[in-house]
Amino acid sequence: METITLIEHKHIVLAVTGSIASYKAVDLASKLTQAGAIVEVIMTDSAQQFITPLTFESVTGQPVYTHLWKAESNGGLPTHIAHVGLGEQADLLVIVPATANTIAKLAHGLADDLLTVTVLATRCPLLIAPAMDGAMYTHPATRANLQTLIERGVYVIEPEEGRFASGLVGKGRLPDTPVLMGHIRRLLGQRGHLAGQHVVVTAGGTREPLDPVRYISNRSSGKQGYSIAQAALDAGATVTLISSAQHLVAPIGAELVTVNTALEMERTVLEYSTYADVLVMAAAVADFRPSNIAEQKIKKTETQGDTLMVELVRNPDILLEVKAQRQETGFPRVVVGFAAESENLLVNAKSKLDRKGLDLLIANDISASDAGFEVDTNRVLLLSLDEGVKQLELRSKMQVAEAVVERIAVLLEQSN
Ligand code: C5P
Repeated sequence: METITLIEHKHIVLAVTGSIASYKAVDLASKLTQAGAIVEVIMTDSAQQFITPLTFESVTGQPVYTHLWKAESNGGLPTHIAHVGLGEQADLLVIVPATANTIAKLAHGLADDLLTVTVLATRCPLLIAPAMDGAMYTHPATRANLQTLIERGVYVIEPEEGRFASGLVGKGRLPDTPVLMGHIRRLLGQRGHLAGQHVVVTAGGTREPLDPVRYISNRSSGKQGYSIAQAALDAGATVTLISSAQHLVAPIGAELVTVNTALEMERTVLEYSTYADVLVMAAAVADFRPSNIAEQKIKKTETQGDTLMVELVRNPDILLEVKAQRQETGFPRVVVGFAAESENLLVNAKSKLDRKGLDLLIANDISASDAGFEVDTNRVLLLSLDEGVKQLELRSKMQVAEAVVERIAVLLEQSN
Protein backbone atom coordinates (compact mmCIF):
# COMPACT_ATOMS: atom_id res chain seq x y z
CA MET A 1 0.00 0.00 0.00
CA GLU A 2 1.37 3.43 -0.84
CA THR A 3 1.44 6.25 1.67
CA ILE A 4 -1.51 8.65 1.76
CA THR A 5 -0.39 12.26 1.74
CA LEU A 6 -3.21 13.37 4.04
CA ILE A 7 -2.37 10.68 6.61
CA GLU A 8 1.43 10.67 6.33
CA HIS A 9 3.21 11.88 9.53
CA LYS A 10 -0.11 12.36 11.35
CA HIS A 11 -0.30 11.28 15.00
CA ILE A 12 -3.36 9.10 15.38
CA VAL A 13 -4.41 7.72 18.75
CA LEU A 14 -6.43 4.55 18.17
CA ALA A 15 -8.43 3.54 21.22
CA VAL A 16 -9.76 -0.02 21.18
CA THR A 17 -12.61 -1.20 23.40
CA GLY A 18 -13.88 -4.71 24.07
CA SER A 19 -16.06 -6.07 21.30
CA ILE A 20 -15.80 -9.09 19.07
CA ALA A 21 -14.99 -6.51 16.37
CA SER A 22 -11.77 -5.56 18.26
CA TYR A 23 -9.75 -7.76 15.93
CA LYS A 24 -10.75 -5.56 13.01
CA ALA A 25 -8.96 -2.64 14.69
CA VAL A 26 -5.68 -4.49 14.05
CA ASP A 27 -6.17 -4.21 10.31
CA LEU A 28 -7.05 -0.53 10.69
CA ALA A 29 -3.90 0.06 12.79
CA SER A 30 -1.85 -1.70 10.13
CA LYS A 31 -3.35 0.24 7.19
CA LEU A 32 -2.94 3.58 8.99
CA THR A 33 0.68 2.72 9.71
CA GLN A 34 1.28 1.71 6.08
CA ALA A 35 -0.33 4.99 4.99
CA GLY A 36 2.39 6.79 6.98
CA ALA A 37 0.66 7.61 10.28
CA ILE A 38 2.22 7.30 13.71
CA VAL A 39 -0.37 5.13 15.43
CA GLU A 40 -0.50 4.95 19.21
CA VAL A 41 -2.94 2.43 20.61
CA ILE A 42 -4.83 2.55 23.89
CA MET A 43 -6.61 -0.65 24.92
CA THR A 44 -9.28 -1.01 27.58
CA ASP A 45 -9.25 -4.04 29.90
CA SER A 46 -12.17 -5.53 27.94
CA ALA A 47 -10.35 -5.10 24.64
CA GLN A 48 -7.51 -7.19 26.10
CA GLN A 49 -9.96 -10.04 26.66
CA PHE A 50 -10.26 -10.29 22.88
CA ILE A 51 -6.78 -9.41 21.65
CA THR A 52 -3.34 -8.66 23.09
CA PRO A 53 -1.29 -5.44 23.10
CA LEU A 54 1.53 -7.32 21.34
CA THR A 55 -0.60 -7.60 18.21
CA PHE A 56 -0.94 -3.83 17.94
CA GLU A 57 2.70 -3.26 18.90
CA SER A 58 3.69 -5.57 16.06
CA VAL A 59 1.72 -3.76 13.38
CA THR A 60 2.32 -0.18 14.54
CA GLY A 61 5.91 -0.42 15.81
CA GLN A 62 4.78 1.77 18.75
CA PRO A 63 4.24 1.03 22.44
CA VAL A 64 0.64 0.21 23.35
CA TYR A 65 -0.99 1.88 26.36
CA THR A 66 -3.14 -0.24 28.67
CA HIS A 67 -2.94 1.26 32.18
CA LEU A 68 -3.89 4.49 33.84
CA TRP A 69 -1.89 3.76 36.98
CA LYS A 70 0.98 1.51 35.93
CA ALA A 71 3.91 2.42 33.64
CA GLU A 72 4.16 0.39 30.45
CA SER A 73 7.13 -1.96 30.52
CA ASN A 74 7.72 -1.49 26.79
CA GLY A 75 8.74 2.18 26.71
CA GLY A 76 6.33 4.95 25.82
CA LEU A 77 5.25 7.91 27.91
CA PRO A 78 5.48 7.68 31.73
CA THR A 79 2.13 6.92 33.42
CA HIS A 80 1.55 10.31 34.98
CA ILE A 81 1.66 12.10 31.65
CA ALA A 82 0.39 9.43 29.22
CA HIS A 83 -3.24 10.61 29.35
CA VAL A 84 -2.27 14.21 28.57
CA GLY A 85 0.78 13.50 26.41
CA LEU A 86 -1.01 11.16 24.02
CA GLY A 87 -3.79 13.65 23.40
CA GLU A 88 -1.51 16.64 23.08
CA GLN A 89 0.45 15.16 20.19
CA ALA A 90 -2.62 13.73 18.46
CA ASP A 91 -4.05 15.04 15.20
CA LEU A 92 -6.95 12.65 15.59
CA LEU A 93 -8.37 10.37 18.25
CA VAL A 94 -10.37 7.41 16.99
CA ILE A 95 -12.27 4.84 19.06
CA VAL A 96 -12.66 1.67 17.00
CA PRO A 97 -14.69 -0.27 17.96
CA ALA A 98 -16.62 1.76 20.55
CA THR A 99 -18.82 -0.30 22.87
CA ALA A 100 -22.12 0.85 24.37
CA ASN A 101 -20.34 1.08 27.74
CA THR A 102 -17.58 3.40 26.49
CA ILE A 103 -20.11 5.52 24.57
CA ALA A 104 -22.15 5.90 27.77
CA LYS A 105 -19.05 6.91 29.75
CA LEU A 106 -18.04 9.48 27.13
CA ALA A 107 -21.52 10.96 26.95
CA HIS A 108 -21.44 11.58 30.70
CA GLY A 109 -17.81 12.68 30.94
CA LEU A 110 -16.71 9.75 33.10
CA ALA A 111 -12.99 9.23 33.40
CA ASP A 112 -12.10 5.94 35.06
CA ASP A 113 -9.57 4.42 32.68
CA LEU A 114 -6.80 5.62 30.37
CA LEU A 115 -9.13 5.86 27.35
CA THR A 116 -11.79 8.02 28.98
CA VAL A 117 -9.26 10.21 30.78
CA THR A 118 -7.43 10.76 27.48
CA VAL A 119 -10.66 11.72 25.70
CA LEU A 120 -11.40 14.36 28.33
CA ALA A 121 -7.86 15.70 28.18
CA THR A 122 -7.76 15.87 24.37
CA ARG A 123 -8.90 18.70 22.08
CA CYS A 124 -8.25 17.19 18.63
CA PRO A 125 -11.18 15.82 16.57
CA LEU A 126 -12.73 12.62 17.92
CA LEU A 127 -14.13 9.84 15.73
CA ILE A 128 -15.99 6.83 17.08
CA ALA A 129 -17.18 3.67 15.35
CA PRO A 130 -19.84 1.98 17.50
CA ALA A 131 -20.02 -1.82 17.30
CA MET A 132 -22.43 -3.89 19.35
CA ASP A 133 -25.43 -6.20 19.09
CA GLY A 134 -28.43 -4.67 17.31
CA ALA A 135 -30.62 -4.47 20.42
CA MET A 136 -27.86 -2.62 22.31
CA TYR A 137 -27.37 -0.17 19.45
CA THR A 138 -31.07 0.63 19.17
CA HIS A 139 -31.62 0.83 22.95
CA PRO A 140 -32.90 4.29 23.92
CA ALA A 141 -29.96 4.76 26.32
CA THR A 142 -27.38 4.18 23.56
CA ARG A 143 -29.36 6.34 21.10
CA ALA A 144 -29.46 9.20 23.60
CA ASN A 145 -25.75 8.87 24.44
CA LEU A 146 -24.77 8.88 20.76
CA GLN A 147 -26.98 11.90 20.14
CA THR A 148 -25.21 13.74 22.97
CA LEU A 149 -21.84 12.95 21.42
CA ILE A 150 -22.96 14.04 17.93
CA GLU A 151 -24.24 17.32 19.33
CA ARG A 152 -20.86 17.79 20.99
CA GLY A 153 -19.18 17.53 17.58
CA VAL A 154 -18.02 13.92 17.73
CA TYR A 155 -17.83 12.23 14.29
CA VAL A 156 -19.83 9.01 14.57
CA ILE A 157 -19.54 6.30 11.91
CA GLU A 158 -22.83 4.50 11.47
CA PRO A 159 -22.50 0.76 11.99
CA GLU A 160 -23.59 -1.58 9.23
CA GLU A 161 -26.44 -4.04 9.12
CA GLY A 162 -25.69 -7.73 9.00
CA ARG A 163 -25.13 -10.88 11.00
CA PHE A 164 -23.59 -10.65 14.49
CA ALA A 165 -21.35 -13.17 16.21
CA SER A 166 -24.44 -14.06 18.29
CA GLY A 167 -26.16 -15.27 15.13
CA LEU A 168 -28.72 -12.45 15.33
CA VAL A 169 -29.14 -10.02 12.44
CA GLY A 170 -29.41 -6.26 12.85
CA LYS A 171 -27.56 -2.94 12.78
CA GLY A 172 -24.37 -2.72 14.79
CA ARG A 173 -21.54 -4.26 12.76
CA LEU A 174 -18.24 -2.44 12.50
CA PRO A 175 -17.62 -1.42 8.86
CA ASP A 176 -14.56 -2.83 7.10
CA THR A 177 -11.21 -1.04 7.05
CA PRO A 178 -11.61 0.82 3.70
CA VAL A 179 -14.80 2.42 4.98
CA LEU A 180 -13.16 3.35 8.31
CA MET A 181 -10.16 4.78 6.42
CA GLY A 182 -12.51 6.83 4.21
CA HIS A 183 -14.16 8.42 7.27
CA ILE A 184 -10.79 9.10 8.88
CA ARG A 185 -9.69 10.88 5.66
CA ARG A 186 -12.91 12.91 5.69
CA LEU A 187 -12.26 14.14 9.21
CA LEU A 188 -8.54 14.82 8.72
CA GLY A 189 -9.21 16.76 5.52
CA GLN A 190 -12.15 18.82 6.68
CA ARG A 191 -10.19 22.06 6.93
CA GLY A 192 -8.23 21.53 3.70
CA HIS A 193 -7.72 24.16 1.01
CA LEU A 194 -10.96 23.19 -0.83
CA ALA A 195 -13.18 23.40 2.29
CA GLY A 196 -16.50 24.99 1.38
CA GLN A 197 -16.07 24.32 -2.36
CA HIS A 198 -18.36 22.03 -4.37
CA VAL A 199 -16.37 19.94 -6.83
CA VAL A 200 -18.13 17.85 -9.49
CA VAL A 201 -16.07 15.07 -11.07
CA THR A 202 -17.12 12.84 -13.97
CA ALA A 203 -15.51 9.44 -14.45
CA GLY A 204 -15.57 6.35 -16.63
CA GLY A 205 -16.40 5.58 -20.22
CA THR A 206 -20.04 6.14 -21.17
CA ARG A 207 -22.05 3.17 -22.44
CA GLU A 208 -24.07 3.66 -25.60
CA PRO A 209 -26.66 0.87 -25.99
CA LEU A 210 -27.26 -1.02 -29.22
CA ASP A 211 -29.99 -3.24 -27.85
CA PRO A 212 -31.09 -4.42 -24.36
CA VAL A 213 -27.92 -6.56 -24.05
CA ARG A 214 -25.10 -4.78 -25.89
CA TYR A 215 -23.44 -1.41 -25.69
CA ILE A 216 -20.52 0.47 -27.23
CA SER A 217 -17.99 1.81 -24.75
CA ASN A 218 -14.26 2.49 -24.42
CA ARG A 219 -11.29 1.43 -22.33
CA SER A 220 -11.55 4.20 -19.73
CA SER A 221 -11.48 2.58 -16.26
CA GLY A 222 -12.61 5.63 -14.28
CA LYS A 223 -9.62 5.28 -11.91
CA GLN A 224 -8.18 8.75 -12.59
CA GLY A 225 -11.59 10.39 -12.03
CA TYR A 226 -12.17 8.47 -8.79
CA SER A 227 -8.70 9.48 -7.57
CA ILE A 228 -9.51 13.12 -8.27
CA ALA A 229 -12.76 12.78 -6.32
CA GLN A 230 -10.79 11.29 -3.39
CA ALA A 231 -8.12 14.00 -3.56
CA ALA A 232 -10.82 16.71 -3.56
CA LEU A 233 -12.44 15.07 -0.51
CA ASP A 234 -9.04 14.92 1.20
CA ALA A 235 -8.79 18.68 0.57
CA GLY A 236 -12.13 19.22 2.33
CA ALA A 237 -14.40 19.73 -0.71
CA THR A 238 -18.01 18.67 -1.07
CA VAL A 239 -17.79 16.19 -3.93
CA THR A 240 -20.30 14.90 -6.46
CA LEU A 241 -19.09 12.02 -8.59
CA ILE A 242 -21.00 11.53 -11.84
CA SER A 243 -19.88 8.09 -12.89
CA SER A 244 -20.36 5.50 -15.58
CA ALA A 245 -17.66 3.32 -13.97
CA GLN A 246 -20.02 1.15 -11.98
CA HIS A 247 -17.40 -1.45 -11.01
CA LEU A 248 -15.50 1.00 -8.78
CA VAL A 249 -16.30 1.80 -5.15
CA ALA A 250 -17.01 5.49 -4.63
CA PRO A 251 -14.84 7.28 -2.06
CA ILE A 252 -16.49 7.76 1.35
CA GLY A 253 -18.16 11.15 1.53
CA ALA A 254 -18.76 11.59 -2.21
CA GLU A 255 -22.29 11.95 -3.54
CA LEU A 256 -22.48 9.32 -6.27
CA VAL A 257 -24.69 9.83 -9.33
CA THR A 258 -24.52 6.89 -11.72
CA VAL A 259 -25.15 7.41 -15.41
CA ASN A 260 -24.78 5.21 -18.46
CA THR A 261 -24.97 7.21 -21.66
CA ALA A 262 -23.41 10.46 -22.86
CA LEU A 263 -26.89 12.03 -22.96
CA GLU A 264 -27.50 11.11 -19.31
CA MET A 265 -24.10 12.49 -18.41
CA GLU A 266 -24.82 15.69 -20.36
CA ARG A 267 -28.10 16.26 -18.49
CA THR A 268 -26.56 15.58 -15.07
CA VAL A 269 -23.41 17.65 -15.65
CA LEU A 270 -25.38 20.67 -16.91
CA GLU A 271 -27.67 20.50 -13.89
CA TYR A 272 -24.82 20.42 -11.37
CA SER A 273 -22.80 23.00 -13.33
CA THR A 274 -25.34 25.69 -12.57
CA TYR A 275 -23.95 25.97 -9.04
CA ALA A 276 -20.77 23.87 -8.74
CA ASP A 277 -17.53 25.70 -8.01
CA VAL A 278 -15.43 23.25 -9.99
CA LEU A 279 -16.13 20.76 -12.79
CA VAL A 280 -13.55 18.10 -13.62
CA MET A 281 -14.52 16.22 -16.79
CA ALA A 282 -12.41 13.08 -16.42
CA ALA A 283 -15.04 10.88 -18.11
CA ALA A 284 -14.35 9.44 -21.54
CA VAL A 285 -17.59 10.52 -23.17
CA ALA A 286 -18.41 8.57 -26.33
CA ASP A 287 -18.30 10.86 -29.35
CA PHE A 288 -20.96 8.80 -31.13
CA ARG A 289 -23.97 6.67 -30.17
CA PRO A 290 -26.08 4.23 -32.18
CA SER A 291 -28.87 6.17 -33.90
CA ASN A 292 -31.39 3.47 -32.99
CA ILE A 293 -31.57 1.29 -29.90
CA ALA A 294 -33.20 -2.02 -30.87
CA GLU A 295 -36.06 -2.89 -28.53
CA GLN A 296 -35.23 -6.60 -28.68
CA LYS A 297 -31.84 -8.30 -28.77
CA ILE A 298 -30.45 -8.11 -32.31
CA LYS A 299 -30.46 -11.62 -33.78
CA LYS A 300 -27.73 -13.08 -35.98
CA THR A 301 -30.42 -13.76 -38.58
CA GLU A 302 -31.10 -10.02 -38.93
CA THR A 303 -27.65 -9.43 -40.42
CA GLN A 304 -27.11 -9.29 -44.15
CA GLY A 305 -24.60 -12.01 -44.87
CA ASP A 306 -21.66 -11.64 -42.46
CA THR A 307 -22.03 -7.90 -41.85
CA LEU A 308 -24.17 -5.85 -39.53
CA MET A 309 -24.46 -2.16 -40.30
CA VAL A 310 -24.77 0.13 -37.28
CA GLU A 311 -25.42 3.79 -37.86
CA LEU A 312 -23.88 6.16 -35.33
CA VAL A 313 -24.82 9.76 -34.60
CA ARG A 314 -22.68 12.38 -32.90
CA ASN A 315 -23.10 12.97 -29.15
CA PRO A 316 -23.14 16.52 -27.81
CA ASP A 317 -19.80 17.88 -26.58
CA ILE A 318 -20.60 18.42 -22.90
CA LEU A 319 -17.68 20.74 -22.24
CA LEU A 320 -18.73 23.03 -25.10
CA GLU A 321 -22.21 23.24 -23.58
CA VAL A 322 -20.75 23.95 -20.14
CA LYS A 323 -18.63 26.70 -21.76
CA ALA A 324 -21.75 28.37 -23.17
CA GLN A 325 -23.67 28.02 -19.89
CA ARG A 326 -20.72 29.38 -17.94
CA GLN A 327 -20.52 32.50 -20.10
CA GLU A 328 -24.01 33.37 -18.85
CA THR A 329 -23.90 32.21 -15.23
CA GLY A 330 -20.23 32.36 -14.24
CA PHE A 331 -20.48 28.75 -12.96
CA PRO A 332 -18.56 26.50 -12.64
CA ARG A 333 -15.86 28.93 -11.57
CA VAL A 334 -13.11 26.49 -12.62
CA VAL A 335 -13.43 23.93 -15.43
CA VAL A 336 -10.93 21.13 -15.96
CA GLY A 337 -10.83 18.81 -18.97
CA PHE A 338 -8.85 15.79 -20.08
CA ALA A 339 -7.25 14.91 -23.38
CA ALA A 340 -6.30 11.36 -24.24
CA GLU A 341 -4.20 11.50 -27.37
CA SER A 342 -2.34 8.84 -29.32
CA GLU A 343 -0.40 11.38 -31.45
CA ASN A 344 0.66 15.05 -31.42
CA LEU A 345 -0.16 15.26 -27.72
CA LEU A 346 0.89 18.83 -27.06
CA VAL A 347 -0.54 20.42 -30.22
CA ASN A 348 -3.91 18.69 -29.82
CA ALA A 349 -4.03 19.46 -26.11
CA LYS A 350 -3.29 23.17 -26.60
CA SER A 351 -6.07 23.59 -29.13
CA LYS A 352 -8.49 21.70 -26.80
CA LEU A 353 -7.72 24.02 -23.88
CA ASP A 354 -8.74 27.00 -25.94
CA ARG A 355 -11.65 25.50 -27.90
CA LYS A 356 -13.35 23.99 -24.83
CA GLY A 357 -12.82 27.08 -22.67
CA LEU A 358 -10.84 25.24 -19.98
CA ASP A 359 -8.82 26.62 -17.07
CA LEU A 360 -6.78 23.44 -16.83
CA LEU A 361 -6.29 20.49 -19.15
CA ILE A 362 -4.72 17.18 -18.18
CA ALA A 363 -3.29 15.50 -21.24
CA ASN A 364 -2.05 11.92 -21.39
CA ASP A 365 -0.40 9.95 -24.11
CA ILE A 366 -2.48 6.79 -24.29
CA SER A 367 0.04 4.98 -26.48
CA ALA A 368 2.26 4.24 -23.41
CA SER A 369 1.58 0.97 -21.54
CA ASP A 370 2.30 2.38 -18.05
CA ALA A 371 0.03 5.42 -18.35
CA GLY A 372 -3.55 6.25 -19.33
CA PHE A 373 -6.22 3.56 -19.59
CA GLU A 374 -6.78 0.84 -16.99
CA VAL A 375 -3.38 1.00 -15.20
CA ASP A 376 -2.83 2.61 -11.78
CA THR A 377 -0.11 4.98 -12.94
CA ASN A 378 -0.15 7.99 -15.21
CA ARG A 379 2.23 10.40 -16.93
CA VAL A 380 0.55 13.65 -17.83
CA LEU A 381 0.99 17.20 -19.03
CA LEU A 382 -0.86 19.95 -17.17
CA LEU A 383 -1.79 22.84 -19.45
CA SER A 384 -3.21 26.10 -18.22
CA LEU A 385 -3.26 29.70 -19.39
CA ASP A 386 -1.51 31.00 -16.27
CA GLU A 387 1.27 28.40 -16.03
CA GLY A 388 1.67 27.10 -19.59
CA VAL A 389 2.74 23.47 -19.88
CA LYS A 390 3.96 21.44 -16.91
CA GLN A 391 5.06 17.82 -17.23
CA LEU A 392 4.46 15.34 -14.41
CA GLU A 393 6.71 12.28 -14.60
CA LEU A 394 5.25 8.79 -14.10
CA ARG A 395 3.42 8.50 -10.77
CA SER A 396 0.31 6.93 -9.26
CA LYS A 397 -3.08 8.22 -10.37
CA MET A 398 -3.64 9.37 -6.76
CA GLN A 399 -0.48 11.50 -6.92
CA VAL A 400 -1.60 12.95 -10.26
CA ALA A 401 -4.96 13.69 -8.63
CA GLU A 402 -3.29 15.52 -5.74
CA ALA A 403 -1.31 17.68 -8.18
CA VAL A 404 -4.51 18.48 -10.09
CA VAL A 405 -6.35 19.41 -6.89
CA GLU A 406 -3.48 21.69 -5.85
CA ARG A 407 -3.73 23.52 -9.19
CA ILE A 408 -7.53 23.75 -8.82
CA ALA A 409 -7.09 25.46 -5.44
CA VAL A 410 -4.82 28.08 -7.03
CA LEU A 411 -7.21 28.61 -9.96
CA LEU A 412 -10.16 29.03 -7.57
CA GLU A 413 -8.19 31.66 -5.66
CA GLN A 414 -7.47 33.50 -8.89
CA SER A 415 -11.14 33.41 -9.87
CA ASN A 416 -12.15 35.35 -6.73
O1 C5P B 1 -12.61 16.14 -27.63
P1 C5P B 1 -12.13 15.11 -26.67
O2 C5P B 1 -13.10 13.97 -26.49
O3 C5P B 1 -10.74 14.63 -26.93
O4 C5P B 1 -12.05 15.91 -25.29
C1 C5P B 1 -11.85 15.29 -24.09
C2 C5P B 1 -12.47 16.12 -22.99
O5 C5P B 1 -13.78 16.53 -23.38
C3 C5P B 1 -12.66 15.32 -21.73
O6 C5P B 1 -12.53 16.19 -20.62
C4 C5P B 1 -14.08 14.78 -21.88
O7 C5P B 1 -14.66 14.48 -20.65
C5 C5P B 1 -14.79 15.92 -22.59
N1 C5P B 1 -15.85 15.50 -23.52
C6 C5P B 1 -17.10 16.06 -23.41
N2 C5P B 1 -18.10 15.69 -24.26
C7 C5P B 1 -17.88 14.83 -25.26
C8 C5P B 1 -16.59 14.27 -25.42
C9 C5P B 1 -15.60 14.62 -24.52
O8 C5P B 1 -17.31 16.88 -22.51
N3 C5P B 1 -18.86 14.48 -26.07
